[in-house]
Amino acid sequence: MQPAIISVNHLHKHFKIYKHHRGALGALCNLFTREATTVRAVDGVSFTIQPGELVGYIGPNGAGKSTTLKMLTGLLTPTGGEIEVNGRVPWKQRRAHVAHIGAVFGQRTTLWWDLPVIESLDLLQYIYKIPPAQFQHNLDEFRTMLELDPFLNTPVRSLSLGQRMRADLCAALLHDPPLLFLDEPTIGLDVVAKERIRQFILHINRARGVTVILTTHDLADVEKLCERVMIIDYGRVLFDGRLESLRDRFGGQRELVVDMAEEYATVDVDGATVAAREATRVTYQFERNALSASDLIGRVSARYRIRDLMVREPNIEDTVRRIYEERLLDEE
Ligand SMILES: Nc1ncnc2c1ncn2[C@@H]1O[C@H](COP(=O)(O)OP(=O)(O)OP(=O)(O)O)[C@@H](O)[C@H]1O
Ligand SMILES: [Mg+2]
Repeated sequence: MQPAIISVNHLHKHFKIYKHHRGALGALCNLFTREATTVRAVDGVSFTIQPGELVGYIGPNGAGKSTTLKMLTGLLTPTGGEIEVNGRVPWKQRRAHVAHIGAVFGQRTTLWWDLPVIESLDLLQYIYKIPPAQFQHNLDEFRTMLELDPFLNTPVRSLSLGQRMRADLCAALLHDPPLLFLDEPTIGLDVVAKERIRQFILHINRARGVTVILTTHDLADVEKLCERVMIIDYGRVLFDGRLESLRDRFGGQRELVVDMAEEYATVDVDGATVAAREATRVTYQFERNALSASDLIGRVSARYRIRDLMVREPNIEDTVRRIYEERLLDEE
């Protein structure tokens, strides 16, 4: 196995929040009392990521996703624990570190607000000392894939959200970083724009072998992009594994929808319950660990004549919601 490109060990980030007294007397009070509460934004996170992986880092609001990414990109210093990225400690070797990563924070741009997009990109060539041939090659590829041409000369502040995200993605990758951090890269985008960004992320990962770690609240991003997901909440990892095993372990019931050739008086079969019935259409629910879809289809077709059928997987949104709500792993 190759050495990990990211390794994180017992990572913590605690923020101290000082209580604020209001009013004139309060202001005086603020000078002398320092009542503080501690927010454990990241509370003992450990994982490793291999080169070439595309990992979804998901969790509800306030779970600690952005804080983790900020520590991985060197923007924040951990309160405790260890991080090594590309063989460097991000917060200690910040300059060398940022030269070898790309990062897009969906909520704010890394480009210069008043400059036209192309001038921002030119500046990056200068800052990262990107050789002209490499710069031109990358810019040509990204311009086409991200369809940047219509707004290359527009100041960043005038870009639409989708345009800005595409410009930011291009900017993050011009210096060929082996690693890309994306914090909510599809936030606020329409379905077409989201799809375009997803295609681009896939391309960067597959064709260029860039390791990607991304946060998102759109679980369609995860389903379409990530083989591995990490679910975090309250600064801790609740699940880390393959998307399929997430479904296997927490997905619960699958459904078999059957169109019968005729209407039968009863449609019962062993191992499944009838969840819905409408004319000749019957929806069976069955436990994935107890029965395979093909066994169930065999049982149904032995008793009834089938015209058509379809197996429905539980969707990941429901699966993840169940994990949040029930804290299933805590109970184990
Ligand atoms: N600079 C800060 N000072 C104090 N508290 C902070 C700071 N940054 C984050 N926090 C707190 O840390 C916790 C985790 O925040 P974080 O931004 O990492 O969550 P997130 O998972 O990215 O959430 P979201 O999905 O809403 O973006 C929150 O409770 C937040 O209020
Ligand atoms: Mg966040």
